[in-house]
Amino acid sequence: MFVCLCHGITDKQIAETVREQGIGNMRELRKQLGVGSQCGKCVQLAQQVVDNTIIDE
Ligand code: FES
Repeated sequence: MFVCLCHGITDKQIAETVREQGIGNMRELRKQLGVGSQCGKCVQLAQQVVDNTIIDE
C-alpha cells in the first residue's frame, strides 16, 4: 500500500527502512526517504507504520 504518494513510498519500504536502519521517528524517516516532505498528508499514516514496525520487533 502506498503511504506517501508524492514520493511513491509504500508501507513495506517504510517498515524495511525502520528495521534495517534503526529509524525510530518521522524526522529520521523523512531524512532517509523523503516521506512527508512535500504535501505532508502522509505524515500521520507514516508515523503509524513506524510505530507498528517498532512494536512488532
Ligand atoms: Fe507524502 Fe505528499 S504524500 S509528502
